[in-house]
Amino acid sequence: MMISLSDLRKFKSEGRKFSCLTCYDASMAKAMELAEVDSILIGDSLGMAIQGHDSTLPVTVDDMAYHTAAVRRGNSHAFIMTDLPFMSYATLNDALQSAKKVMQAGAQMIKIEGGAWLSESVRVLTQNGIPVCVHLGLTPQSVHVFGGYKLQARTREAADQLIADCTAVVDAGAAILLLECVPAQLGQEIAELFPNIPVIGIGAGHQTDGQVLVVQDMLGLTFGRVARFVRNFMKEQSGETAIVDAFKAYHAAVQDQSFPAPEHTFQVEL
Ligand code: KIV
Repeated sequence: MMISLSDLRKFKSEGRKFSCLTCYDASMAKAMELAEVDSILIGDSLGMAIQGHDSTLPVTVDDMAYHTAAVRRGNSHAFIMTDLPFMSYATLNDALQSAKKVMQAGAQMIKIEGGAWLSESVRVLTQNGIPVCVHLGLTPQSVHVFGGYKLQARTREAADQLIADCTAVVDAGAAILLLECVPAQLGQEIAELFPNIPVIGIGAGHQTDGQVLVVQDMLGLTFGRVARFVRNFMKEQSGETAIVDAFKAYHAAVQDQSFPAPEHTFQVEL
């Protein structure tokens, strides 16, 4: 059975945490299906993980559509979200045309990065039958505005601003929120504030409704520095089913909330 947005809402209402991993190709997607990973993000992180760039900025809508189609062919179980890449939703018309391409390639939802200023795009996309996830906190497409990949919303004032951004996009119709690199306390506050909106975290503590990791990070295939919020699930595996077993271990750890552990989270009192 293919997981839908209603299933993710139901998981939230039942307190069942759900797993999400990035994925860019059919064979990994099949391994995730065998492990019953709940959702897949075709992230523009493919710019780094697959294409070898040093940021997500060079990725195009055609790249996203190509990888979305490959993943959908490999997996008929997970809920599939696809990123709209850098500058592909700067105008309403761009947003509609970009979203059309990735939805027609097999996505069930698109993800865009930002805050309250996206409200009109969220409204128009939703009215056109395109469910929207809004990514807030550390938004990698704005890395040059932030001046690096850093913890966001470290003060009460900044946390309240982020909550106001979440409220604006949810009021406009956003169906999922994704929070990256924010204090665990804020991840929990936002998940509790919106009872009908699944909140996915990456470096946002264990109280969000879902967790996401970049697949190369959790398989130990990222060479060089990895973020604090990453756990290598491949370390404990061996044998020919090692990759599927790593995905199963991740899915189980998300469900029982042993991942993320305190060492993977940012503890800042707000
Ligand atoms: O592109 C991506 O992989 C992402 C995740 C880091 C959430 O947006």
